[in-house]
Amino acid sequence: MSSAQLYDTIGATYTVTRRTEPRIAAQIWAALGDARTVLNVGAGTGSYEPTDRHVLAVEPSALMRSQRPADAAPCLIASAENLPLDDQSFDAAMAVATIHHWQDPIAGLREMRRVARRVVVLTHDTSDAGWLHRFWLTRDYLPEVADLILGRPSLTEMTRAIGGRTEPVLIPWDCADGFFEAYWRRPEAYLDENVRRGVSVWAKVGPAVEQRAVHSLRDDLASGRWAERNRDLVNLDTAELGLRLLVA
Ligand SMILES: C[S@@+](CC[C@H](N)C(=O)[O-])C[C@H]1O[C@@H](n2cnc3c(N)ncnc32)[C@H](O)[C@@H]1O
Repeated sequence: MSSAQLYDTIGATYTVTRRTEPRIAAQIWAALGDARTVLNVGAGTGSYEPTDRHVLAVEPSALMRSQRPADAAPCLIASAENLPLDDQSFDAAMAVATIHHWQDPIAGLREMRRVARRVVVLTHDTSDAGWLHRFWLTRDYLPEVADLILGRPSLTEMTRAIGGRTEPVLIPWDCADGFFEAYWRRPEAYLDENVRRGVSVWAKVGPAVEQRAVHSLRDDLASGRWAERNRDLVNLDTAELGLRLLVA
């Protein structure tokens, strides 16, 4: 199944939990610099699109496009790997929480580089051997996530493909965008079906693994084991869980 087909299957409730997190948006918009024209690749329902610049969205999934607000930027039906746009036709191209779904991330990044003078991508650093252990959910309940990242290019390879630099993106404890790691200090949230349906990881690991992880987490929350293991988190306002902005 292609990623567009995946989102045509799992995307129906995306906007229940997924929306722009203002502190992460501020970091993305700062990285866009003085760009007046912005291409948003893998745009989904329109989160993180700046309203004070000219934006064109690109989104392959019909179900995701159908959930874009009426006043959202216009949206092309296309994929990152083959952008139907002229060379250097945008000041900047951005991609948020999408590149791990692309069939060929390096080809997509090169396309962004071709059509825009600046490229801003929110992605993960999975190259660190300790990545899986940074987040208690993958470490203690969902080690299967390791299989999902097999074969994906590392952040170093992605940065090498288009040049540029990376900066860490910290996740606030009350993050408004319900992506996978967003509830790192609110573990009960992962017991909520709506929260899980807004994150593709749960669909990818499958229902048996999902139910095992949820039951195990529920037990540990009830017994105090989660609190005991994660005592250090309650005093943190932000977490560094490998989110990175690639700016080229
Ligand atoms: C997790 S959503 C992120 C949407 C949005 N950027 C956001 O931050 O809410 C991932 C999106 O990537 C899109 N996608 C999947 N494969 C793609 C590809 N090859 N090129 C462009 N977008 C793709 C999916 O259809 C989906 O809308």
